[in-house]
Amino acid sequence: MNRFKEMAVDALVQQVKELERDTIIEMIETPPENHQGDYAFPCFRLAKERRRSPQLIAAEIAEQMEIPSIFDNVVNAGGYVNFFFNRKKLAEEMIHQVLREKEKFGSSSLGNNKIICIDYSAPNIAKPFHVGHLRSTAIGNALYKIYEHMGYTCVGINHLGDWGTQFGKVIVAYRNWGNPKDIEEKPIQTLLDLYVKFHDEAEKNPDLEDEARNWFTRMEQGDEEALTLWRWFSNETIKELGKIYELLGVKFDYYTGESFYNDKMEPILQELSEKGMLKNSQGAALIDLEEYGMPPCLVQKKDGSTLYATRDITAAIYRKNTFNFYKSLYLTDYSQKLHFAQVFKVVELMGYEWAKDLYHLPFGRVTHEGRRIQTRKGTVVLLDDVLKGAIGRVTEIIDEKNPMLENKEDIAVTVGVGAVIFNDLSNNRIKDISFSWDTAFSFEGETGPYVQYTHARACSVLRKADDVHLDVNDFDGAELMDDVSNQVIRKLEQFEDAVLDACSKDEPSILTRHVIDLAQAFNRFYHDHPVLSAEPEQRTARLMLVESVRQALSVGLNLLGIKAPEKM
Ligand code: ARG
Repeated sequence: MNRFKEMAVDALVQQVKELERDTIIEMIETPPENHQGDYAFPCFRLAKERRRSPQLIAAEIAEQMEIPSIFDNVVNAGGYVNFFFNRKKLAEEMIHQVLREKEKFGSSSLGNNKIICIDYSAPNIAKPFHVGHLRSTAIGNALYKIYEHMGYTCVGINHLGDWGTQFGKVIVAYRNWGNPKDIEEKPIQTLLDLYVKFHDEAEKNPDLEDEARNWFTRMEQGDEEALTLWRWFSNETIKELGKIYELLGVKFDYYTGESFYNDKMEPILQELSEKGMLKNSQGAALIDLEEYGMPPCLVQKKDGSTLYATRDITAAIYRKNTFNFYKSLYLTDYSQKLHFAQVFKVVELMGYEWAKDLYHLPFGRVTHEGRRIQTRKGTVVLLDDVLKGAIGRVTEIIDEKNPMLENKEDIAVTVGVGAVIFNDLSNNRIKDISFSWDTAFSFEGETGPYVQYTHARACSVLRKADDVHLDVNDFDGAELMDDVSNQVIRKLEQFEDAVLDACSKDEPSILTRHVIDLAQAFNRFYHDHPVLSAEPEQRTARLMLVESVRQALSVGLNLLGIKAPEKM
């Protein structure tokens, strides 16, 4: 919680003894219009116990309160205790804070370096990396940065789908119709084409399915010929994925995919069996979860092969032993809800009390212009195409609006990719989102380019003003007391809480929203108030506000995994 809100809470705690501090924190509101007060505490709940009207109670609390010096005034308004900031003081506190903290603005040491494992992106080799995986990548990457800003230490894990029956299919397809050159040149597309081709051909010739199963069994049994092909497919794909991640500006601490657990599952199956948890069902091994209202969790097929769930149970235990995490997060779409509920239940039943620290963070599906994205046939939108399309679109806009821009290509990449990520992160995690070429790239409205453009505009003002050397000691908060300037200051004041809220709810869209609000408040300010041509004292104050907003937007975008170019 930011220190000013904390002051209001502390003052309330003294007056409202019948409520816990945490309850007061939950109840305190931030009214939308600053005329109604900057913070408001509703007294309706107190009426019954105090046997008085909320208005009287609010008046009484306001009356008796020792007003913290950052506030000018505390009054009753319709049953609310309303706090009004001393605008001059608040402006001075905030500007000093932003200019002092710089890229650490809004950070905290709350996390105390506790470890957060984040499992994100995790595309499947030989299947498409589509815009659905982008959500996992974008949300996971943003959470990584947000948690770190809150003082946690993150471990980013890419649990690649690099093992499974699809490899048997791809091997068969490659041997029949593939060639090495295509794999090396564009592995992701080529392997996907082979996968699709396999399904087409297998419809006509079902024997192919047996052949594919046979190749996957050979992989599982350690057959060198099968493994060599698998390793080559994986390595080529990982190389190409690396380029996409570089474009997105996303990094992982570990690329430990499903195959990493191949030699680690046997002891876990052993443990499950020793703990009396395994049930034999026609030769297959499963854990009965009926008692918990879930279908059984299959961990070994009758041919001895393991499953997605077996690897996830093993991975959870491996991560606990290796990183001793405080929390372990998994980002996939909500279709995997049951899978994770089963996996977490099994870990709990194994007697690991830390199973409660495993969190599946589901997100909605991505539809493309209204249609669902599918793997095998039809409407696959590959991430690579989306990014290239985005960059192309932005290039056109730049050519039209600012053809003389230096580093046009780089900026088109930054803005195009930023638009795609921002679009993804502006939606509430659980909502299905629709991807549309028309809305994602606008320089107006609530888009990434709009925020980036606002940042670049602030940079441009500061560049033009470079005759002055900004010294924070010259700053006079009295110059920024009007409503429009004060709104910008308020958005800076609420920044830290937006990051905190995004972190505690695992919801980057809260920060995205706040960054848009800040950009809009700033653009209103910039529209209403001349900066460079203002009187000297006012000019200095306004320039420092511009610099503070620039800094805050840059921090905000960075936490979302988006670059903030200085010119565009
Ligand atoms: N590869 C999976 C998919 O594309 C996602 C993996 C998520 N992580 C995990 N530990 N299961 O659906």
